[in-house]
Amino acid sequence: MLKLAVIGSGSGTNYLAIQEAIEKGTLDAQVVCVLSDVPDALILERARQHDTPAFHVDCAPFKTKLDGEAEQRVIALLEQHDADLVVLAGFMRLIKPALIARFAGRIVNIHPALLPAFPGLHSWKQALDYGVKVAGCTVHFVDEGMDTGPIILQKTVPILDEDTVETLHARIQQQEHLAYPEALRLIAANRLTLRGRRVLQTLPRDLN
Ligand code: GAR
Repeated sequence: MLKLAVIGSGSGTNYLAIQEAIEKGTLDAQVVCVLSDVPDALILERARQHDTPAFHVDCAPFKTKLDGEAEQRVIALLEQHDADLVVLAGFMRLIKPALIARFAGRIVNIHPALLPAFPGLHSWKQALDYGVKVAGCTVHFVDEGMDTGPIILQKTVPILDEDTVETLHARIQQQEHLAYPEALRLIAANRLTLRGRRVLQTLPRDLN
């Protein structure tokens, strides 16, 4: 069974969607630990409510990246919990080469935009301000760039004339909560292969 380590900085609704898919039996995986750089992040509380080991990792002195001692502590926790896959879910720091090398090809992220458009922060606001008519979310493998890794899947939502930053983000998040379990199901079933930058899906085993 695929052992997931979830890392996030915020409210953890994506963590919850993954956990609920596991509990419903639609995702054959287990969340072995949840880590956060924010001591009172809701994601940690939600993990504890589901009896999942949850840890705060102090990432000082860095503000925007996971580096140095904190990176080593994260690697140690991932190893202690025997994680197969690192699942970034609202983690607001850049991942650096030591972690990427240790979990090569085994780190995924969800981003609230249709990459490569609108990488970085507050992507739904970037989309709204730009005036695009379609927004969405992207699940992708993580490489050393910011939101640049190979794309596993994307889901779209319309942008409506009456949308605000809040209504658009909520609509995108509904799709995120479907997209992340779906992407993890493909990984758990070993159905993804990488060809260059393209992530290709093979048929389910019983149809092959
Ligand atoms: C999600 O919308 C996720 O896509 C976004 O943070 C939110 C976390 O929500 N991530 C990024 O913006 C990363 N660049 P959650 O804590 O409720 O899952």
